[in-house]
Amino acid sequence: MASAKTPVQNPASAQPSPSVFVNTLMPQPAHLTEQPGALVITPSFTTVEGHFHDARLDHAVTRALNRLKERTGLLIANLPADSASATLTVDVDGPGEAIQSDDENESYSLDVTPSGAHLHAATDIGAMHGLETLLQLVQPDGEQFILPAVSIQDAPRFRWRGLMIDCGRHFIPFPVLLRTLDAMAAVKMNVFHWHLTEDQGFRIESKLFPKLTEDGSDGLFYTQDQARELVAYARDRGIRVVPEFDMPGHTGSWLVGYPDLAGGPGPFHIERRFGVFDPVMDPTRDSTYKFIDAFIGEMAAIFPDPYMHIGGDENNGVEWKQNPRIQTFMHDHNLKDTAALQNYFNQKLLQILKKHDKRMVGWDEILTPDLPKDIVVQSWRGFDSLAAGAKQGYSGILSAGYYLDHMDSAEDHYLVDPIPAKSDLTADQQARILGGEACMWAEYVNGDVVDSRIWPRTAAIAERLWSPQGVNNVDDMYRRLAAESIRLESFGLTHLSQEKIGLRRLAGPSSEEAGDMNALRTFVSVLQPPDFSGIASEHRTTLSPFSALTFVLPPDPPSRHDFEHLVADYLQDPVAAEAGQTQLTGIFDAWIAAEPDLLRMMANSPILARTRPRAEQLARLGTLGSEAVSYLSSGQPAPQGWKARQLALLDQAGRLQCGVRFTVLQPLRDLVNSVQER
Ligand code: ACM
Repeated sequence: MASAKTPVQNPASAQPSPSVFVNTLMPQPAHLTEQPGALVITPSFTTVEGHFHDARLDHAVTRALNRLKERTGLLIANLPADSASATLTVDVDGPGEAIQSDDENESYSLDVTPSGAHLHAATDIGAMHGLETLLQLVQPDGEQFILPAVSIQDAPRFRWRGLMIDCGRHFIPFPVLLRTLDAMAAVKMNVFHWHLTEDQGFRIESKLFPKLTEDGSDGLFYTQDQARELVAYARDRGIRVVPEFDMPGHTGSWLVGYPDLAGGPGPFHIERRFGVFDPVMDPTRDSTYKFIDAFIGEMAAIFPDPYMHIGGDENNGVEWKQNPRIQTFMHDHNLKDTAALQNYFNQKLLQILKKHDKRMVGWDEILTPDLPKDIVVQSWRGFDSLAAGAKQGYSGILSAGYYLDHMDSAEDHYLVDPIPAKSDLTADQQARILGGEACMWAEYVNGDVVDSRIWPRTAAIAERLWSPQGVNNVDDMYRRLAAESIRLESFGLTHLSQEKIGLRRLAGPSSEEAGDMNALRTFVSVLQPPDFSGIASEHRTTLSPFSALTFVLPPDPPSRHDFEHLVADYLQDPVAAEAGQTQLTGIFDAWIAAEPDLLRMMANSPILARTRPRAEQLARLGTLGSEAVSYLSSGQPAPQGWKARQLALLDQAGRLQCGVRFTVLQPLRDLVNSVQER
């Protein structure tokens, strides 16, 4: 029964709650109106499903209630109720599509009043989105939890809101994928793009071609039963699964067991390095297409989604150019270059996909005017190819700007819009931009690290793809992202905890006792991993360990945005900004004070010791900051040459070194540049 109708059980619920709605919704809904009061959550919280319900909706409601129970610490028994008395009514018109497509109606409305909550949706999918919103609305209010009274009408801006995970270059354990799906559902993402094959590993069992995994996976692959389980798990959460079998390049692992597919002589091996390699399929032989047809047919029976991704990226054409038989074929078929030959291959692939009732998705390399307009182009090389495709009549999804392995900030990703405000696309062309996908390439992640590379930044991308274009306040995004990041931990994600675990491992068992962990925490709070090219310069392979500090640090830690703000606020009026001065001085003093503790710790921690130069730089940056603030706050000029010395130090600290980079250099540069010299 609604809590407001049972004042005996919870007297506080008799009055409208005085509390203020703290909006931490992520993504922000399309329309939200705050109402007076709040619904108090009590153990007698009940739910009722309206005239329609099915197993999927029942599961979703049960999961939501279990999460509500954990969030509130209340033993919510969910006793039977009727729609007049239930705290939450979930009113769904119908089940939704038998096979979820990009046309699915995902909208919902949610009305919370002091006496109850009402969720209405056209389908299960919208109801699931609404339940996620409801759970995000839960907030403490003194000694109780409430749902603030709101009226929400919500629907996504884009129909394709995806996350791609490359499970080829490093195998990502199955349970990690399941918890990732939970997290995707929490931020209303609806496509899991499963990159299953790479030069470095073939990750899906084929019963027709068992040597694909026997010879091409190091024993690290998903069984067909697991793939079916994942598809069902995703469907239960409103998420489509689009598998990718990257062809004709990036196929080294296929060719180890099936060298007859190859356009080159071999021998082939599972690739350990990263990059673009020569092994490629032979597009000239019928046997290649027979193999692909059988394989795609086998996969089509496992993956019901209307789309299948054929990759198509980064074929360097080397083996095609070196093979006289393929050269003769190209000459005979009037194919002027290897791009034309790949187009020939794609045409054949398209027929195979059509036969198995699949629409083709591919990376932008596949875009040629010969392909029909019902394919989807995934744009990774740049923004312009997405718009160019839309102008030519092709549907597209944006991934340029959403590459998580580039180690950009959540802010950088957030401000990338598949249809920017200044877009010159017509309404029809804009409608062809289906959405976007965050891409987690796995050169530099394994199962232990991947959560912290995906989350929480992907929640910012999820909001970009769901919420109205005008929702773009970066500070507000970071405020809500911090709240969502903690909520996401309830799915077992380790994106926050793995840093603490990694630091303890690096520091060694006695560090906590010696009190050195504070110094280490100060140090790492202003560090993050290098960008993609920085990590690439280390020439890692699939066999490299993941124990370095780089892999313990999250990209875009809170220090980056917080410190930027602190300095910007201070610089508005340094002489008057006493609080800012105190805060900054405290930070700089901590950097200086950390050095001796860090050096002592590093003397007994060989892996941490590799970052010793950064610890020494941090102390010098502390001195730099401290001096800058004392000049600025006192209004006194610095001596001649001071600035040049500080800028040189900042340049040095900005160089690629030790596999970690500072998050605070630009604001420090702003401080230095604001100082006057005599
Ligand atoms: C890609 O990044 N090669 C799609």
